[in-house]
Amino acid sequence: MSNDRIDALRKAVEANPDDVLLRLVLAESLNVAGETEEALDQYVVLLDHHGLPDDQFVPVGELAAANGRLALLRNLLEAARQRGVVEGTGRLQQLVDGMIAERSGVRIKVGPEAETPYEQDLVKEATTFDQVGGMDEIKRVIHRMVILPQSRPELYEKYGRKAGGGVMLYGPPGCGKTLLARATAGECGLPFVNVRIEDVMDPYLGVSERNLHEAFEHARANGPCVLFLDELDALAFARHKHGGSESRRLVDVLLQELDAIGSENDGLLVLAATNAPWDVDEAMLRPGRFDRVIFVPPPDEPARADILAVLTKGVPADGLDLKALAAQTAMFSGADLRALIERGVDKVIDEALSTGGEPPLAMQHLTEALAAVKPSTLDWLHRVRSYIEFANQSERYDDVAAYLASRDVRRRLNKN
Ligand SMILES: Nc1ncnc2c1ncn2[C@@H]1O[C@H](COP(=O)(O)OP(=O)(O)O)[C@@H](O)[C@H]1O
Ligand SMILES: [Mg+2]
Repeated sequence: MSNDRIDALRKAVEANPDDVLLRLVLAESLNVAGETEEALDQYVVLLDHHGLPDDQFVPVGELAAANGRLALLRNLLEAARQRGVVEGTGRLQQLVDGMIAERSGVRIKVGPEAETPYEQDLVKEATTFDQVGGMDEIKRVIHRMVILPQSRPELYEKYGRKAGGGVMLYGPPGCGKTLLARATAGECGLPFVNVRIEDVMDPYLGVSERNLHEAFEHARANGPCVLFLDELDALAFARHKHGGSESRRLVDVLLQELDAIGSENDGLLVLAATNAPWDVDEAMLRPGRFDRVIFVPPPDEPARADILAVLTKGVPADGLDLKALAAQTAMFSGADLRALIERGVDKVIDEALSTGGEPPLAMQHLTEALAAVKPSTLDWLHRVRSYIEFANQSERYDDVAAYLASRDVRRRLNKN
């Protein structure tokens, strides 16, 4: 399939977002062309809008599993159950179990003696905002929404503004959500409890729910602290769409824990992050829960220069023009920039080994490395754009819509 053909299909789908058949053809063409991530994004939209044919559930499930897309896989399973696609459910369940077992490293002990990953004492988080490049506006918002209520609760009481409730960060992968959450804990002078999906998910019935509850118990017992739920979409994926009992139980546990926080005032500050906000259950976003939602966009040019400065701090370097480098790395995520610097440093080490000297990191190393690193945020931006257009959910994604509307971003997206 030629790229031209796919481009034409993409445009056609954009112009006719409700045409299910057309989108299906696009998804299949993308898959055949090896653009699996983008193909999966199209399948997600189809699934959400009941446009995925019954015989596609298993092949799409296999593709999702091969690409590490657990939330999508579970959505497929729930939808297959609901629709009574009997033939596929067994295989999909197998794929889900396989992925969860892989991620959780299969904990076999179940029961009161089972090990939990939360035994160590909590220490104050050392990461601070200085280690997060750019994001000045977001840092200000977090300061007002999170840090100030924490450090000056009396101010908020005086004006009758309730602290409490959680904050959800969302945006493309690698743009600093986890880093920012960690640094927020550091700025508050609190310990950071990172609840990763692989610490919670377990193939045994009821164990995931218990793991999640224990994470909250542990944090409460050691409060005040910041409890961070990474990949919130996988913990709390939208039950209104498919309503399967299995996923609902985990969502219910999370809702209960969140609702308990305000009433018990136990010094627990809950932050969450997701690359897939459209998969997060609406109930999570109600007042008192994750009622403050922050879009973390790809870094703009000054932010990239700032991130590059953070990343090269302490590296022996000579004559680095970080501004010039920032100008050449449009749509790079922070993680892409880190990969770029790491590749540059690899080149320096190669050089040191072959010459026996100690050469500094120079522009030439980074320019060479630039050829090998590509921006990774475009897929996400394409996806969110089609999501906003197709699902008519623009209010929920106002910040993203504004970001996408900027001339520079529009130009970059249309080019790729
Ligand atoms: N703003 C930033 N400043 C400095 N480093 C960053 C920034 N954003 C991303 N990085 C680098 O990329 C890595 C991945 O970022 P992460 O916070 O895990 O992204 P996300 O959680 O959004 O997927 C970080 O560990 C850090 O090295
Ligand atoms: Mg992360």
